Amino acid sequence: MKVLVIGSGGREHALVWALGQDPAVEQVVAAPGNPGIAALRPAYDGQTVGCRPVDIADHDAVVALAQELGTDLVVVGPEVPLVAGLADPLRAAGIAVFGPSKEAAQIEGSKAFAKDVMAAASVPTGRAYICTTPEQAAEAIDAFGPPYVVKDDALAAGKGVVVTADREEALAHAAECEQVLIEEYLDGPEVSLFAITDGTTVLPMQPAQDFKRLGDDDQGPNTGGMGAYTPLPWAPDKLVEEITEKVLQPTVDELRRRGTPFSGLLYAGLALTSRGLRVIEFNCRFGDPETQALLPLLKTPLGGVLYAAATGKLADAEPLSWKNAASVAVVVAAKKYPAKPRSGDVITGIEQAEAGGVRVFHAGTAVDGDDLVTAGGRVLAVSATGKNLDEARQHAYSAVGQIRIKGSQHRTDIALKAARGEITV
Ligand code: AMP
Ligand code: GLY
Repeated sequence: MKVLVIGSGGREHALVWALGQDPAVEQVVAAPGNPGIAALRPAYDGQTVGCRPVDIADHDAVVALAQELGTDLVVVGPEVPLVAGLADPLRAAGIAVFGPSKEAAQIEGSKAFAKDVMAAASVPTGRAYICTTPEQAAEAIDAFGPPYVVKDDALAAGKGVVVTADREEALAHAAECEQVLIEEYLDGPEVSLFAITDGTTVLPMQPAQDFKRLGDDDQGPNTGGMGAYTPLPWAPDKLVEEITEKVLQPTVDELRRRGTPFSGLLYAGLALTSRGLRVIEFNCRFGDPETQALLPLLKTPLGGVLYAAATGKLADAEPLSWKNAASVAVVVAAKKYPAKPRSGDVITGIEQAEAGGVRVFHAGTAVDGDDLVTAGGRVLAVSATGKNLDEARQHAYSAVGQIRIKGSQHRTDIALKAARGEITV
């Protein structure tokens, strides 16, 4: 099978790596890819791994590239091209695509749409008001009281949500958004659960936890995600079954009923509150950096299952199979991320970091002459496994300690509370 992965981040690096492990995959190309993916080539005997430049906003160019490469399966990584409808012309050209149509991707592209689907499917989520004027927003903010949750309705690269006890800050964020969702505050630990689906059958992965805030102890601004781990030793029994039954399957069924089936990866971000589980958000693609933690533990060959989803054949698939181990991914971010990440800082130490079997997935990197340099906010995700979270943390953090980037930032507490048994539901 020949696979084309669209995107250039750490999630795409992990996807290409995992696809390269599948004996049924004979070629995997990333477009545009990144320097870490380009460096994978020699690691896969018999498999051609590489990168091709393309402007992913140019849908005709992506279709032409897929045709030129004789692609059997396109995997679209990021939300922006999915919400822009890239999957549609690829499907129209007769190419199997892992990723939802433009209409189904609205589950991530519009928070109001997601709320509407959840209401129709009786999926538990926070109560919310959708507001289009500052007066409506102020009324909703005062109706809920602090802490205030204010969400931009549209895509915002992880920066559209403000959670604050400061009423003025809440009002100011609402004023910046064209349409805004004011939501009740949801307490309790958060879970990311990903489901591979063909629009009918739902195949859940194992749950992971993401760390959204920039600093240790969940201090500082929201980011795209500073680290992740899996599995969750503290998770209640039957958590995956409960989320599948109450959230994933009803959502997939509702989108099919509307005539816009969701085929691809449905990402449920949830809070396990004292009153039961609640959806915080849906995404229409693999999470970043959860994917960099999850894929090293996946035993099921990835290409086969993504192809089955893309071709509507998931009903025959076996449940996914996982290594009995733990995995931790720590993001190394550029100086001044997320406000104004600095580009051009030299990156060294990746080879030493990887010496112990740790994987360093590239996100914001570029080649400059002989140097690898920073070229984005989240620069690398350092992903390590171990027999338990303690061991995986040790491996990940000793590798992070090898990497040198001037002014870089990382959290030191990824998976720490879980490893210490300090998370309760
Ligand atoms: P989102 O972009 O929707 O994932 O939101 C980013 C982060 O903001 C989430 O991961 C939560 O940590 C937090 N958040 C979002 N909605 C709520 C809510 N209703 N209550 C509490 N925290 C929230
Ligand atoms: N890790 C959060 C996201 O991918 O949106």
